[in-house]
Amino acid sequence: MRRTCRTVFNAPGPNLLRCSPVFAAAVAAILSMTANISEVLADDPVEQRVNALLGQMSIEEKIGQMRQANAGYGNPPDYLGDDIRAGRVGAILNLVDVDVVNELQRIAVEESRLGIPLLVGRDVIHGFKTILPIPLGQAATWNPELVEKGARVAASEAASHGVNWTFAPMVDVTRDPRWGRIAESPGEDPFLTSAMAVAMIRGFQGDDLAAADTIAACAKHFAGYGAAESGRDYATTNIPENELRNVYLKPFKASVDAGVATFMASFSDLNGVPATGNRFLMRQILRDEWGFDGFVVSDWDSVHQLSVHGLTEGDRESAYEASTAGVDMEMAGKAYEHLHDLVADGSISTDVIDAAARNILRIKFLLGLFDDPYVDPDELPPIGSEHALQVAKQTALESIVLLRNEIGVLPLQKGKVKSIAVIGPLAEAPYEQLGTWIFDGDVSLSVTGLDGIQNLAGKDTKIRYVRAMPTSRSRADVQFEEALEAAQQSDVVVLFLGEESILSGEAHSRADINLPGAQAELVREVRKAGKPVVAVILAGRPLTLTNIVDDVDAILFAWHPGTMGGAAIAEVLFGVESPSGKLPVTFPRMVGQIPIYFAQKNTGKPPSPETTVHIDDIDPFAPQTSFGMTAFHLDAGYRPLWEFGFGLSYTSFEYRDIATSVAEIRAGETITISAELKNTGGVPASETVQLYVRDLVGNVTRPVRELKGFRKVRLDPGEATRVEFQLHTDDLAFFGRDNTLIVEPGEFHAWIGGSSDAELRVSFRVLE
Ligand code: NOJ
Repeated sequence: MRRTCRTVFNAPGPNLLRCSPVFAAAVAAILSMTANISEVLADDPVEQRVNALLGQMSIEEKIGQMRQANAGYGNPPDYLGDDIRAGRVGAILNLVDVDVVNELQRIAVEESRLGIPLLVGRDVIHGFKTILPIPLGQAATWNPELVEKGARVAASEAASHGVNWTFAPMVDVTRDPRWGRIAESPGEDPFLTSAMAVAMIRGFQGDDLAAADTIAACAKHFAGYGAAESGRDYATTNIPENELRNVYLKPFKASVDAGVATFMASFSDLNGVPATGNRFLMRQILRDEWGFDGFVVSDWDSVHQLSVHGLTEGDRESAYEASTAGVDMEMAGKAYEHLHDLVADGSISTDVIDAAARNILRIKFLLGLFDDPYVDPDELPPIGSEHALQVAKQTALESIVLLRNEIGVLPLQKGKVKSIAVIGPLAEAPYEQLGTWIFDGDVSLSVTGLDGIQNLAGKDTKIRYVRAMPTSRSRADVQFEEALEAAQQSDVVVLFLGEESILSGEAHSRADINLPGAQAELVREVRKAGKPVVAVILAGRPLTLTNIVDDVDAILFAWHPGTMGGAAIAEVLFGVESPSGKLPVTFPRMVGQIPIYFAQKNTGKPPSPETTVHIDDIDPFAPQTSFGMTAFHLDAGYRPLWEFGFGLSYTSFEYRDIATSVAEIRAGETITISAELKNTGGVPASETVQLYVRDLVGNVTRPVRELKGFRKVRLDPGEATRVEFQLHTDDLAFFGRDNTLIVEPGEFHAWIGGSSDAELRVSFRVLE
């Protein structure tokens, strides 16, 4: 039974039960602290250097710091040197020739009036030369320590080319696999996304931003970009403030707490105010509520685009809106040239310019650029080092999700399998396996699926390779006959299917997320051979696999796995390692189910097998009725094809005996929730144990489950362990009806298991 607060809960407005005193005190402290970040930091040596420099700068030089120029993708335009010399540029992007970077730094430091070094930005999203799995694949590892190592490898390789700032991590929660940029995101869940964001920030930035192998990170795209209508990139987003705070903003807050140096404003329109001109986001939330003391960069030309959105009449007004909303630096645009006039005629206070320049200079000092602006690549590990390749392989290995293994076809038994037909457009595709946003990736380092199988199978196993389709999209020029022949002659078929990398990423959204081209037909053709068929799918997003799932015996979902993808895939195929990846996003049965995600609301009519009906089972001329019916689709039901957190293994795991340390806790206290996990199968393997919680009654409705913890555990056959999660009442807080953070007393359910469908449940109460 709920306590006396029931009536309070029903009253919207300020008299809601507030969050724990501990949290409220923390928020108050942050708010007072951030009233003026510079004042608070006044005793800080970095802040003193920033202020001293600022005191010497002209307004033109300050505005110069607010401009990031495109360095011409390796061919810097002639005027760039002059602009740097004149103090008209504070940062560049898209230059990775270390000698040219060092020369531009020399001009900045030796030939500009105040010698302010440059920021050198680049999209180092999932690796630099050595490419890691796409971020969505990295999230499927559920292994933040490993993800941190990967980001450090990327940082070190990028730093050796003169880059000191990456536009990563992307921390946009997205529940739409049609969106091409889901590849760059850690998926649908704010908790997992936050964990990945923090890991990447730690990896990129390390403990010391000034170290040779660290670079500044950038949490992007602030905010809501992943909720683009119909998954169409750049489309409008409409997100109620409560959902924004409870879902989309959480990974950004975690990024601030992890010390991220910079933020990037999103291209998208949020509730009618495009993010690049959105004061609520950048002033109220980012600065006032969260106390962010790094700087905010626009997205590419997104200040100018404020007028294209229809928010402003032109660049001058756009510069006003963006700068006063809190965009400190304009990327690759010209709108901020109007800042001079806007200051001169008093439209913008010099305080706005000072604050932006100060935020930017602070990061330059923290990066150590004033002490040593030059890069000596010899001080850093070589590109594609053994360590880098090992981290890339391990990440790919742990990212692979076993979705199906019907007749125990996997792992392939070395020795028993004498011949393998390797078929498909992505078996030997060194570029495609790298995925989206790999400007600098070194294709020559790629180990393909075919390479991996050839290396591991041993010389006594015959490999028959048929590409079968020129690209994943092909409908013509297909070699299905050769494919069928190879399948007939072999013991087992391994089909490499999926999407080329160009089918995901920025501006590459799809409305149909089936396997493209004639791939489904290829599956059915090969099936005719009557041999076991394993599908290895390389893709930048979840695909709807309903139309092929029953025609294959096993499915390994490998995302775009990066440089070492083929080696990792082969190790999983041959059972060198049991697959341990778990889905960071729900896989729908069909596109019409989207958005479909585990943390949905219950609705007033929650679906169940008893209250749903399939279109084929409706009687002819049945009368219209909604009696007893619930929230489902007639043709798709309400279940996804595979749920969030799902992933099979070559062993089996048993969960039992869930328990809580206490039955009740009060605000400020911690409860331990634990369960026993046993490896009941025949091989050693890792399992990601997941904790889900439901707050049964809230002053705003709460999701049916929320992920609150996870732990990756390795167990030998027969081995058991008790896995514990500590939950503080702050972990149960949510933004209530008036959008303040609250923890409500009442009953909670907790589940521990191997996916978001976990069944082992326990209850506890939070007392007032
Ligand atoms: C546009 C993209 O939205 C952003 O993510 C990227 O960092 C910039 N371009 C720079 O390339």
